[in-house]
Order: sequence, then C-alpha cells, then structure tokens
Amino acid sequence: MDAEKARKRIKVVPAVLAAFVLLLLGGYIILCKNTDIVIHGDGQVYLEAGDEYLDEGYHVTLFGKEKKLEVLTEGKVDNEFPGTYVIEYRVRWNPFLKVEKTVEVRPNCDPVESGGYFVKGLILVNKNHHVRKDYAPGENRIALGALKEMQRAAKAEKLKLPVVDGFRSYETQEKLYRMWVELKGEQKAALYSAEPGHSEHQTGLAFDLGLADPVFADWPEGKWLEENAHKFGFIIRYPKGKEDVTGYAYEPWHVRYVGKTIAAEIYEKGLTLEEYLGEE
Ligand code: DAL
Ligand code: ZN
Repeated sequence: MDAEKARKRIKVVPAVLAAFVLLLLGGYIILCKNTDIVIHGDGQVYLEAGDEYLDEGYHVTLFGKEKKLEVLTEGKVDNEFPGTYVIEYRVRWNPFLKVEKTVEVRPNCDPVESGGYFVKGLILVNKNHHVRKDYAPGENRIALGALKEMQRAAKAEKLKLPVVDGFRSYETQEKLYRMWVELKGEQKAALYSAEPGHSEHQTGLAFDLGLADPVFADWPEGKWLEENAHKFGFIIRYPKGKEDVTGYAYEPWHVRYVGKTIAAEIYEKGLTLEEYLGEE
C-alpha cells in the first residue's frame, strides 16, 4: 500500500466509526430520551416528539445530511382495559437497538387520589359531586390521546379544534368562579362556572375546544364536534335543552372523555352523563 492510500484510510476509518457511533447514539436518544408515548383512541401507540409524529419517521441531521429514521412499534394498548402494557420500539436500520417502554393505562381518575364519586366505572363531577381540593392529575393521558386522534380527523377535513382549556387546578377554578360571580352575580355564575372542586376540568378528562362561546355551535368546527366527538370517546357534556339536568348552560365547546362505547350510547340516546348513570 503506498503512503497516499494509507493516509486516506487513516482519515476514512475514524470517520466511518464516528458515523456508526453517532447513528447508534442517535437511535438511543430518539427511543429513550427525546420521546413521549402517545396512545391514540384506536389503541395504537405512537412515539411523539413535540408535534412530530414519529411513526411517520423521524428526521435527524448527521454530518449536514438529513436522514429519516423509521421507528417500528410492536405491541398494542387497549384503552378500555386499565393495566400495564409493554411496547417495544426498534429503528429499522439498527438491528442492535430495541427499547421496551411500559405504558400505564388509566382511562379514568384514580378513585382514591381523586376522592371522587364513581358510577359504572366513571367519575361523576357535577354540582352534587366533587373531587379533593389537592387532586391535580394534569391532563389524562388516554383522554389526551383520544383528543389528538380527534384533532387529526378534524384536520383531515380542514377544521381546527385547538384546546382552549384542559386541566384546571382547584385554585384556577376558584379564580374563574370568582370572576364569574363578580361579572354576573352568584345565581347566573352558577350557570356558567362550576364551583372549585366541582369542575370536570380538575379531573383532566375535560377539554374546551375551539371557542368557549355559544356561537361555536354555529361554526363548522362546532357542528363537526357535535356530530363526531363520540367516535373518539367524547361527549358534549352540557348539551342544549338539558340545562335543568346538568345545571349548566349549553356549552358546545366542552367535551368530556368517557370512552368510545359509552360515548356512542350517550350520543345515540341523546342523554347527559347524569341520565346515562341514573344519577343527579
Ligand atoms: N364551565 C364548566 C361547567 C366548568 O366550569 O367546569
Ligand atoms: Zn369546560
């Protein structure tokens, strides 16, 4: 081998090795560090980093070149059944890398932590039933997954359903309720805002979507939500004409996650959650 060739090899070998190590590390970071697991309503598991859906491939830049890594997912989660599921991820080009992640399915609130009132496996939060003051679970993972699935379906029809409000702590609800009382007086405020501890928003299972105003019902987005929310496990929690049952004015923007089966029944029969559960 002449000196020129040897010099070239000395340069090339470490570069190849470095690239290999970087690829391995890149895969590791993607699978282990940089991602969150999102479970969509269909039980399919997605890896997510920010707004980027990793099941469609993840883009990394190595040596100034963009590379698409395909993440393969094995395992399914059944949203209807609480439990622990093991999901395995692989990167297609890397036979050495396999990562297992454990997914906890808790489609409802924790009965002990929440101190809530449960009927048929669902938490009922309304004027008569509340949750503990210090209960602050954040947004429910299953509900959030179902919401993302719904937002994607709406987007496919060129409709946007941004989250205006999701989880609200007791303290936030307290401020909101006080604001309503100052604005409208106690009697009217009761139609628009739950008292602290009595808001479904504190369970992490409720979302306000689009626009928190009655005109939302006339928007294409509001109409779509009304007709489709149940397909993703949500109900319009305070329907029109049911003010005497729920105690609240019509809120076309407020959805509550109950799961697909129950949501479909509630939608088809035109019930409120109280009527479905046979409770007040
Ligand atoms: N606006 C609903 C009733 C709430 O405050 O939770
Ligand atoms: Zn709401």
